[in-house]
Amino acid sequence: MNIGIYGGTFDPPHLGHMGAARAAMALLELDKLIFVPAKQPPHKALGDDSAAPEQRLAMTRLMADCLLAPERVSVDELELDREGKSYTSDTLRQFRKRYPQDQLWLLMGTDMFLTLQTWHESQTICSLAGVAAFARTEADSPAAFLRQKKLLEDRFGAQVRVLELPQVYDVSSTEIRRQGDGAHLLPSVWGYILRNGLYGVHRDLTHLSDDDLRACALSMVYAKRHAHILGVEAEAVKLAKRWGCDETLARRAAILHDCTKYWSTQRHLACCEAYKLPLDPLELTSEKLLHAKTGALVARHIFGQSDQVFDAIFCHTTGKRDMTLLDKIIYIADYMEPNRDFPGVERLRELAYVDLDAAVALGCEMSIEEMNEKGREIHPNTLMALASLQH
Ligand SMILES: [Fe+2]
Ligand SMILES: [Fe+2]
Repeated sequence: MNIGIYGGTFDPPHLGHMGAARAAMALLELDKLIFVPAKQPPHKALGDDSAAPEQRLAMTRLMADCLLAPERVSVDELELDREGKSYTSDTLRQFRKRYPQDQLWLLMGTDMFLTLQTWHESQTICSLAGVAAFARTEADSPAAFLRQKKLLEDRFGAQVRVLELPQVYDVSSTEIRRQGDGAHLLPSVWGYILRNGLYGVHRDLTHLSDDDLRACALSMVYAKRHAHILGVEAEAVKLAKRWGCDETLARRAAILHDCTKYWSTQRHLACCEAYKLPLDPLELTSEKLLHAKTGALVARHIFGQSDQVFDAIFCHTTGKRDMTLLDKIIYIADYMEPNRDFPGVERLRELAYVDLDAAVALGCEMSIEEMNEKGREIHPNTLMALASLQH
């Protein structure tokens, strides 16, 4: 196996890291890519503006997840679990033990590569892993790279690959911390920074812009859900235009509708308990039903959204009696956004722009049929939604 090891402080991880990781996976044909957030890098002190190790770990996990290859990409805590400075040689010894037969590649940017011979136990590093260096800025000189490659080969017998990145992001974590905006970050990493008030970014979560609200929502779910959330947002806004509904409310309800999708049952129940939200017996045992309740609570109490948005998220899985225009739009957008693919979805898509009530009724009927096939109990709200739409 080819295994890439990508260490760093990731304070925060940015698009440069992401681009380099993606390129390394392709160019080195990596079977595995392991991000290793450093606890305390030997070559620099972490500043006062740094995020805590567990926060850097969480942000690195969000970045790794955005590579959408969970079976190949992981984040390892071994440096965070180790006392003292995070020496690369110690880390590589641990990986060598874990993967005795495999080809290890240590991934690094320009600055690291050009000073590798000065690192602690550089000889050992080069004997345990190949070195894969990528250029970080346009100014990186090929001549300097080649000189350094030769030096490491001659002095340490190192195996060196120089990776040319298809796209170079001239950006550093230090600048990002200073600027305090999300321009060079994955939306989910920026959302995490917003929600946790890192790097001196203290936005009022109840008055976020649409972009910042979206970043927060994306930071709360696995990356495989992102396309769906963006699809619901686009569809909900289109439907709002078609049916004369408030576009901002539609957008915000769509952005937040699945934000608690991956919470544990325990966390859902604790949230409902904290906000004194009563649950019926069916809801108590179904995460699918619970995420609508807690999503609505989070939208209202954390992100300051209105009662209309609360209600639309609250009923987005089951529907309910006498749904409002916004409720219907979120319900049907969730059902038939462009990423959805199931028999009958085309019919729903057409109907939603011609007869919204008929589309929602058809959605309810399809849900009922699906529940019947699975032998699951149908929530009374779905039956009531259908009855109230048919009158
Ligand atoms: Fe949902
Ligand atoms: Fe959804």
